[in-house]
Amino acid sequence: MKGEKHMNKELRKAVIAGNWKMNKTPDEAKELIEGIKPLVKGAGCGVVVCVPYVDLAAVLEAAKGTSIGVGAENCHWANSGAFTGEVSAPMLTSMGVQYVIIGHSERRTYFGETDETVNKRIRAALDAGLNVILCVGESLAQREQGVTGELVAMQTKIALGGVSKEELKRIIIAYEPIWAIGTGKTATAQQAGEVCGIIRSVVAGLYGKDAADAFTVQYGGSMNAKNAADLLAQPDVDGGLIGGASLKPADFAEIVKAASK
Ligand code: PGA
Repeated sequence: MKGEKHMNKELRKAVIAGNWKMNKTPDEAKELIEGIKPLVKGAGCGVVVCVPYVDLAAVLEAAKGTSIGVGAENCHWANSGAFTGEVSAPMLTSMGVQYVIIGHSERRTYFGETDETVNKRIRAALDAGLNVILCVGESLAQREQGVTGELVAMQTKIALGGVSKEELKRIIIAYEPIWAIGTGKTATAQQAGEVCGIIRSVVAGLYGKDAADAFTVQYGGSMNAKNAADLLAQPDVDGGLIGGASLKPADFAEIVKAASK
């Protein structure tokens, strides 16, 4: 059983994605990406940086000719219109952006994001040609109530509503327990592996085993240079969504190294 799982892991792409959140001016962003570039050159896994809208142009320019993917941290579900302050998916692709984070818990908690709006944003992102990093995860109270598995399954199912098997290839799911984000309180490797496995089972139920075997599931929440290898050794953890540590080139590069096959 273990052997089979391990073998399946070889079928999937390991991806380490940075989530810069609301940090860095364009000048600072350029400096950060220039610091990251040489350290992740030739990485044996996918490397993505998701950055504030205003930093996209500078980071795209600096990442040209490298294998670093560039992403935004959100997008609206409409292509254009009277949505003051929002940015659409086609606006992102027109710049050359390849990825977008959807449904981060900070958006769910502070900006009223729901499973339904997450689903709408994913639809728009896929239609525009973007790759999606969908975030799901439970609060501490929910974990203590024992509903983590059901909650994460529900978030996953609603988010993927209407997504075809072909489109699924452009989606990554990041399991991010809310209690572990920015708190320095990492999930144990076992906790991370267990919930990432639940997510893969849900994907298998929706799209079949072959699709699930090839599907990338990340862990996120205080993943850092020290604990990354342990978390990534879990059969169902294929990568990481990295907040704080992605702002430090050496730490980010260390995590990339841990994920490289
Ligand atoms: P953290 O953030 O690594 O700082 O905990 C992860 C995330 O929110 O994606």
